[in-house]
Amino acid sequence: MKILGIETSCDDTATALVEAKRGRFTVIRERRSSQIDLHKQYGGIVPEVAARAHAELVMPLVEEALDGEQPDVIAVTAGPGLITALMVGVQTAATLSYAWNVPLVAVNHIEGHVYGNWLASKKNIAFPALALIVSGGHTELILMRDHGNYKLIGKTRDDAAGECFDKVGKLLGFEYPGGPKISEAAKGGNPAAIAFPRPMIHSDDYDFSFAGLKTAALYWLREHKRYSIADVSASFEQAIVDVLVAKTIRAANEYKPKSVMLGGGVAANTKLRAALAASVSTDYPEGALTLPPLFATVDNAPMIAVAGYFHAKRKDFTSWKKITADPNWRIA
Ligand code: KG4
Ligand code: ZN
Repeated sequence: MKILGIETSCDDTATALVEAKRGRFTVIRERRSSQIDLHKQYGGIVPEVAARAHAELVMPLVEEALDGEQPDVIAVTAGPGLITALMVGVQTAATLSYAWNVPLVAVNHIEGHVYGNWLASKKNIAFPALALIVSGGHTELILMRDHGNYKLIGKTRDDAAGECFDKVGKLLGFEYPGGPKISEAAKGGNPAAIAFPRPMIHSDDYDFSFAGLKTAALYWLREHKRYSIADVSASFEQAIVDVLVAKTIRAANEYKPKSVMLGGGVAANTKLRAALAASVSTDYPEGALTLPPLFATVDNAPMIAVAGYFHAKRKDFTSWKKITADPNWRIA
């Protein structure tokens, strides 16, 4: 089965043709156009600007991903995300479904991030599985009992982890998005140099809160005129990683999943990947860890195509007449 994936929920226009064969996925072609340069001048993503860029780019990128091939299924991100941005992908997919008479699948963006793990060359995923999804818009712990069966067990009460990276990055003078730049700067720093707070690390639930950490960084930077950007970056990154890993392990110990997964843009963070791997193997060895390949961490279309494959297998299609973009679509 060949699946065309389309993703336009935020600031990446992404398309891919993925082939599913005996439980293995091959990305035949994928295209991703990041709008970062377009939004940089505004210091963040402007929905209207994003939607216009998606509208210009989506069909040329669909054509490039297909390169003359016809998909068996079309999978598109229908939410959550920016409504005007989502609508471009959804309307494009609906139109193609009508014109080609090819079945259509609506994919939840967070679900897509979870399915990024099925693109790993070395994967060990048995259900129930626990997924930590960390991106610019989301920080969620999801228990997946089976394909399409999700339970949201924890989420951020304020800022997402990636958003916190980006905001502190801005304070340090990094361009948007600050996450990868902080991570790069942190390599030369001491993670124990500054004792930033670890919000909610000991709370008796699986929720997160990162607004206080951002404020703590803001005050610290105001109080200290001279500092090492590397030390601030490393200490801040360590605080976020500590909280994310501690909460995931706590959830694993309660829900006893057979496997643990990571996803979302922040899943590209080297320290988080290493810390989660170390902690799962020592503190929750009964769970097998799968990490998504780097190309499947930031918003991308292969992950949407893979999620679409599992919907198609269960014949969970949505008619082009009925599909709608839902900016607040919750996975569970
Ligand atoms: O999943 P994604 O592309 O978009 C959303 O759905 O939000 O995630 C983008 C987020 C940004 O906040 C970016 O700063 C963060 O992922 N990010 C990172 C790294 N690479 C991307 N954060 C920390 N370390 C990284 N290496
Ligand atoms: Zn995302």
